[in-house]
Amino acid sequence: MKRTKVSVIGSGFVGSTTANLLAEKGLCDIVLLDVIEGVPLGKALDIQESSSIIGFESKVVGTNNYTDTKNSDIVVITAGVARKPGMSRDDLIGINAKIMHSVVKEVKKHSPDAILIVVSNPLDAMVYIAKKVSNFPKNKVIGMAGVLDSARFKSFISMETGFASKNINAMVLGGHGDDMVPLSRYANIEGVPISELLSDEKIKQIELRTRKGGAEIVELLKTGSAYFAPAASIVLMVESIILDRKMILPVAAWLEGEYGFNDMFMGVPVVLGRNGVEKIIELTLLDSEKQALDKTAKNVIELSATAEKIIKDLN
Ligand code: 2OP
Repeated sequence: MKRTKVSVIGSGFVGSTTANLLAEKGLCDIVLLDVIEGVPLGKALDIQESSSIIGFESKVVGTNNYTDTKNSDIVVITAGVARKPGMSRDDLIGINAKIMHSVVKEVKKHSPDAILIVVSNPLDAMVYIAKKVSNFPKNKVIGMAGVLDSARFKSFISMETGFASKNINAMVLGGHGDDMVPLSRYANIEGVPISELLSDEKIKQIELRTRKGGAEIVELLKTGSAYFAPAASIVLMVESIILDRKMILPVAAWLEGEYGFNDMFMGVPVVLGRNGVEKIIELTLLDSEKQALDKTAKNVIELSATAEKIIKDLN
């Protein structure tokens, strides 16, 4: 049986941590690509050399050449610059839109049947570019952000209640920006709504910390952004696809009328399986929740339009 091939574009902290976690899971062979000479080769070799200790069978190849990514089943795109303290994810659009444009052109040429998982920021606009440039079917172009934002939301609920984060169900919808929408009303610990365990004020604080979760790490690191939780989030999505687990996960998906939005990517709950996004789940929202979603969507639409303009000038 042919082993699943996953290529990771960008060998920075997110890309290399993703490659390492994927190798440790042993679910697929991995190609780590970057334009920087030597670095992806060195990191891939370093990961491969841990195989006898960890006990995995994945083959890990580092490269500067897209030919090595040929016929990937999944391509994870982490390429691009990360923000520095004081910057918003949106400030990265000028440079990262161009990088995304050139990466996706190469990916399309070498892996025309791949499922794309986009991670670069500003996420919702970058995944929009990936769809426009690749013209891949909507189920095969996915953005990673909701899993990460929801993981942060769950961690903060766990920290406040003392209950295991594993037992917490909580989801964040909307764009991957400061106006994302943590859905507290749906959040629960083994079925018990968090409103039974935490005051309204505490829940509001958790929502705010979740929205600013990425910035909190950037402020601490000073030279880059988060990578352990982002990489773990990517790997969960890859796993759900490769093993056809059909997990319900919040991801940036192409919307055609769902939640009242059209022709844009935004974080919504989906079923993730062998075919990528197999179904979008439409939750019933209160007016206030829908208004919050409208607000984040407005920002995503504006950013996607800016991104589209940048790549039009490149074509
Ligand atoms: C984050 O939220 C990098 O956008 C990523 O940490």
